[in-house]
Amino acid sequence: MKIVSCRNLVKIYQNSKVTTPVLSGINLSIEQGEFCGITGPSGSGKTTLLYTLSGLEPITDGELLLFEKNIKDYSAGEIADLRKFQIGFVFQFYNLIPNLTAFENIKLAQIIAKRDDDEQVLTALEMVEMAQFKDYFPNELSGGMQQRVAIARCLVNQPQVIFADEPTGNLDQKTGQEIMTIFQKLNRQGITIILVTHSEDNLRYCSRHIKLTDGKIIHDHKLEV
Ligand SMILES: Nc1ncnc2c1ncn2[C@@H]1O[C@H](COP(=O)(O)OP(=O)(O)OP(=O)(O)O)[C@@H](O)[C@H]1O
Ligand SMILES: [Mg+2]
Repeated sequence: MKIVSCRNLVKIYQNSKVTTPVLSGINLSIEQGEFCGITGPSGSGKTTLLYTLSGLEPITDGELLLFEKNIKDYSAGEIADLRKFQIGFVFQFYNLIPNLTAFENIKLAQIIAKRDDDEQVLTALEMVEMAQFKDYFPNELSGGMQQRVAIARCLVNQPQVIFADEPTGNLDQKTGQEIMTIFQKLNRQGITIILVTHSEDNLRYCSRHIKLTDGKIIHDHKLEV
């Protein structure tokens, strides 16, 4: 099963004053079970690639298939459903809601997906080893712990794929490795991971390395895990 594939994908940001070509002719195909690490210089288009591949940002030209279906054939509602049920996102800054506990932050993601299962919330917290902190507020948790909660939040609706944009970018090296180990564990359970990183060190957790420069793929190789 192909999670995502694209041919000649082009992304140009256009506003009233400037036209910014960002991705020019991206070709790739990511299979279920892969752990892709995307690297490249700042401004090379890594975040834009994640956002277009996941359907968050519309593409300008080319062809994009998500779960083997052309993005053009999804309705807005179906894309919203993809984000709720099949795709998880993790960001550099954890984006937790400050006045909700760890449990409640995750519960909210579940409610948005119109589900109600407290056991599932606890399971998600256990998967990231945070069950004992379920009643803590974000400002009572370290950065690494907040990132664990953010990962649990995207796990609660059992996504097939997680898109992560520099999830260790704000963490010290040791904590970053703990977070990478969690992604590795999730990947071994079958979740596809597509992760942008500045750290070459993180590539040792990945099964594939894609390198971008100036909006083009200049390197795409399998890695030994
Ligand atoms: N919403 C937007 N509107 C206009 N231009 C944008 C927008 N988002 C990104 N860009 C531009 O697209 C280019 C690539 O940005 P992008 O954020 O994808 O790079 P990146 O590789 O993720 O960089 P970094 O490593 O710094 O996060 C940059 O020139 C940026 O200014
Ligand atoms: Mg970026």
